[in-house]
Amino acid sequence: MIIIKSPREINLMKEAGRVVGKVFDQLKEKIRPGISTLDIANWCEEIIRNEGAYPTFLNYSGYPGAVCVSVNDEIVHGIPSKKRILRDGDIVSVDVGATLHGYVGDACRTFPVGICKEETLRLIKITEDSFFEGMKYMKPGNRLGDVSHAIQEYCEKNGYGIVREYTGHGVGSHLHEDPYIPNYGTRGSGPLLKEGMCLAVEPMVTQGTFKIRVLSDGWTAKTKDGKLSCHYENSIVITKDGFEILTKAEGPIVVVTDEAEQLAKTKETN
Ligand code: MF3
Ligand code: CO
Repeated sequence: MIIIKSPREINLMKEAGRVVGKVFDQLKEKIRPGISTLDIANWCEEIIRNEGAYPTFLNYSGYPGAVCVSVNDEIVHGIPSKKRILRDGDIVSVDVGATLHGYVGDACRTFPVGICKEETLRLIKITEDSFFEGMKYMKPGNRLGDVSHAIQEYCEKNGYGIVREYTGHGVGSHLHEDPYIPNYGTRGSGPLLKEGMCLAVEPMVTQGTFKIRVLSDGWTAKTKDGKLSCHYENSIVITKDGFEILTKAEGPIVVVTDEAEQLAKTKETN
């Protein structure tokens, strides 16, 4: 059953979403070579708790981290570790859940670490854009399959794969509610979209095959071919004539897509 949220609940969802946005806002300055994936998780947890919220993923189905941190060919659910040190040219996906006043905000960003290849930055850009391609169809009267189809088509047109085993989901007082939201599908299929639905849409995009394998830790999902994977997610609410993003960052998260430009920027700040 898909729960329609009341205006009061939507306000609470915005509060929870704001915490998640704030995490990314503060995190983007800190991502650099030499830090560990546990450093990232600890920073996220501190920001979440300082806002009076709780890191939703911690102990969820036994998940051991405060947030998920997935590097390079890791698609989702990477477990934060002090031994996993980020290096120049890596990409790192940080998936953050925050529960505040009983409601959940859930979102993910993928950050470049140091100087990345242009083809790596392109993967990040296309993944992010695929979310917004899907969002063009996110309004009352359309069907969920319209959104799923748009995401798939955009990624595949750009030469990338779409992961099948993990999907987006409804979000509310629980992290995972109906419906599940595949990033692939058929136009005109699936549930009808209605005002007040809160949904987490999260394309997981691969440079090579979309086939995955899960590590023996029981959580970390990787690409089968070892090629890069990228993840982008927001929680949204469907409005009268479109949608609103609940997990907004306060400032823009700008991914510089040009290698030379990126190098110049790094020199400026050093
Ligand atoms: N954004 C992911 C999801 O919606 C994160 C869940 S991690 C888990 O499924 F540990 F909580 F499962
Ligand atoms: Co999610």
